Amino acid sequence: MKSILITGGAGFIGSHVVRCFVRKYPHLRIVNLDKLTYAGNLANLFDVEKEPNYEFIKADIVDAEAISEIFRQYQFDAVIHLAAESHVDRSISNPMEFIFTNIVGTVNLLNAAREIWQNPEGKRFYHISTDEVYGSLGETGLFLESTAYDPRSPYSASKASSDHLVRAYHHTYKLPVVISNCSNNYGSFQFPEKLIPLSINNIRQNKPIPIYGKGENIRDWLYVEDHASAIDLIFHEGKDGETYNIGGNNEWTNIHLIRALCRVMDKKLDRPTGDSEKLITFVKDRAGHDLRYAIDSSKLQKELGWQPSLQFEEGLEKTVEWYLSNESWMNNITSGEYQKYYDTQYNKR
Ligand code: NAD
Ligand code: DAU
Repeated sequence: MKSILITGGAGFIGSHVVRCFVRKYPHLRIVNLDKLTYAGNLANLFDVEKEPNYEFIKADIVDAEAISEIFRQYQFDAVIHLAAESHVDRSISNPMEFIFTNIVGTVNLLNAAREIWQNPEGKRFYHISTDEVYGSLGETGLFLESTAYDPRSPYSASKASSDHLVRAYHHTYKLPVVISNCSNNYGSFQFPEKLIPLSINNIRQNKPIPIYGKGENIRDWLYVEDHASAIDLIFHEGKDGETYNIGGNNEWTNIHLIRALCRVMDKKLDRPTGDSEKLITFVKDRAGHDLRYAIDSSKLQKELGWQPSLQFEEGLEKTVEWYLSNESWMNNITSGEYQKYYDTQYNKR
């Protein structure tokens, strides 16, 4: 049985990728390696954790020795690397965690893969990255795979650095790598520090919705299951050494997005139209706040035939419905209860 290592599988996107692979490929052994930082939540995988082709390892990718030992033991055939510190605001207040996990952690995985893949035939190291490495756009233009890197936050600089190192290992050591850079994801199981789940959570509790600056910054939103489907496709069909941009062709200013979200929340919570919007509160802007991200994903569409499946309105409605019908998931995070899941569900086994 081939073994695929997925790092960061207890996080938002990682949990969708793990679920997709465990269900779709019962003949593959899917090993989820995650440190379970504040962002890791094994309850995200409650519906697949008992599948016979799924296994969880609690480990820190910054610990080089532990990572090498795990690679020697498991002899992985491929790696899909999502583990990262992912929140821009946290990178502004505490950049070092981002340097350790996103840069050193990635190099540790590259070294461990290099060590066990003496013959790289049929192997694959797939590095998941972000559109933020390309910097910030003005009012026009789109990020292409050939756009020069210009990261502007500690988070994006750490991701850009890891992308460069992955490419360097391909060129120097012929490690079989592939990279994708994706735009903003939204959907179920997203940690409520990010704009959409944070706003849903605040609206349901009648708390202010903090909008940075004037809310004029633009992001290109993609439904997380469409990101997972792109990852599945690139993992299986992408060419070695190539980079693929993934995006929703779906740009919104933050304020327009939040107004749309408020309308959906009013409807779902049976509140008078305009009620949730009253919670919008403009707050101090994020330091160095990038104005606009927008992805050109035509390479992925033309070469591999990928298409996002959901229109934004439908995706947003599904997302709101999910958070409202999974209030205990959210409450377990806000109370800190979710961090006991590993001890109660896994340590007793
Ligand atoms: P997330 O913060 O929800 O999850 C990150 C996961 O990594 C968590 O489970 C955490 O416990 C784990 N982790 C963190 N440090 C670790 C370490 N040292 N060792 C092992 N595990 C560790 O992140 P996400 O939003 O799901 O993003 C996943 C990946 O996708 C990241 O690489 C991110 O840069 C990239 N990405 C995210 C988006 C987005 O919109 N969220 C868009 C494009 C790319
Ligand atoms: O573009 C891809 C990136 O998208 C990923 O690489 C990151 O991991 C992911 O976190 C996301 O980064 P952003 O900074 O764009 O996401 P966030 O949800 O933090 O913010 C979205 C926009 O909303 C951004 O312009 C900042 C703004 N914002 C955010 C928060 C948390 C607010 O106005 N208020 C808020 O409270």
